[in-house]
Amino acid sequence: MQGEGMGFSWVTLTTVLPVCGQVTALHSGKEIHGQIVKSKKRGDVPLLNSLMDMYAKCGAIDYCRKVFDRMQNKDITSWNTMISGYSINGQIEEAMALFDEMISNRIRPDGITFVALLSGCSHSGLTSKGKRLFHVMQNYGVKPSLEHYACLVDMLGRSGKLDEALAVVESLPMKPSGSIWGSLLNSCRLYGNVSLAETVVERLFEIEPNNPGNYVMLSNVYANAGMWEEVKRVREMMGMRGIKKDAGCSWIQIKHRIHTFVAGGSTDFRNSAEFCRIWSELSDATKKVGYVPDTEVVLHDINAEMKTMWVCGHSERLAAVYALINTGDGMPVRITKNLRVCVDCHSWMKAVSRVTRRLIVLRDTNRFHHFENGTCSCKDYW
Ligand SMILES: *[C@@H]1O[C@H](CO)[C@@H](O)[C@H](O)[C@H]1NC(C)=O
Ligand SMILES: *[C@@H]1O[C@H](CO)[C@@H](O)[C@H](O)[C@H]1NC(C)=O
Repeated sequence: MQGEGMGFSWVTLTTVLPVCGQVTALHSGKEIHGQIVKSKKRGDVPLLNSLMDMYAKCGAIDYCRKVFDRMQNKDITSWNTMISGYSINGQIEEAMALFDEMISNRIRPDGITFVALLSGCSHSGLTSKGKRLFHVMQNYGVKPSLEHYACLVDMLGRSGKLDEALAVVESLPMKPSGSIWGSLLNSCRLYGNVSLAETVVERLFEIEPNNPGNYVMLSNVYANAGMWEEVKRVREMMGMRGIKKDAGCSWIQIKHRIHTFVAGGSTDFRNSAEFCRIWSELSDATKKVGYVPDTEVVLHDINAEMKTMWVCGHSERLAAVYALINTGDGMPVRITKNLRVCVDCHSWMKAVSRVTRRLIVLRDTNRFHHFENGTCSCKDYW
């Protein structure tokens, strides 16, 4: 459009920004911000909201806050975007502080505000605070919807209160969704409760018979318990029902290009001399800071060496190495992944952030991990 000399309207930019957010194209998002700044007109509220949302989804929460602070007219979406931005980026204290500010400014929170806060509490392990919020919510005239219950179930399950979580699901005033049962299944995995996992997965197979994630999760539960016969049975069941595991896929933006990495995909990059050099440097350096590959996460009963190789091929590691090679020293590395990050890749990222002195921001299916000098913003709770 600009090539054609057509210029653009705020609506054009408001439409493009969410795309940048979805693919974590921070570089492009910043360019659009630059266009807004250069323009003589003041950005309108929907545009600035979508700019904030883009920054939050790219894990650049400080930029998001700058836009928020400079907005003259904020609407409820502006507040919600800022609160949920903090929440998905693991900064629950800031989210709660902003909520208090919102209340003292006499801005009425809505259902979305509470989803943001509750999911933040759930991801940070603040169970009692979250439970209190769930009740407080109704004082603001917000009736709990399925999404709020989903946060509650997740919160209880993650903190090991599996029976309480189950009781909530069973007494829901509406039909539980697949994602509610799915979060309970994940909690069973975290706490190694095989029998409850089996009950939960029966319900899941009724609602989402074709979701490969449920089979993989069940298989993980069995693998963690060393029940290899059952692992095999799940794999056969997937084969019989024609269900294929989603391939792990990660991507990064370098300048104007998005680079995509698929686990078990092309080996060109993995076999390149540059990759091998950086990989072996990283292996030595991460070992020195105490990183030990955890091969438990691999759900096949294969030998240890094979397991290590398999985990090392995870797409987020390939993306990270690619970014380390192709961006300047000290530049943050931003990776997006289509699946949940595994325990071992999480430890690896922590170690790599320490030895390379880089900030690594990884967005997986439902949250961000900011790795810095050996620790993660999620405090290993996800
Ligand atoms: C699994 O969770 C259920 C529900 O909380 C509980 O009754 C059961 O004892 C648990 N089983 C194990 C092995 O922890
Ligand atoms: C990074 O973490 C290590 C180990 O916890 C610590 O000794 C070091 O001082 C930290 N470096 C910085 C720059 O914070």
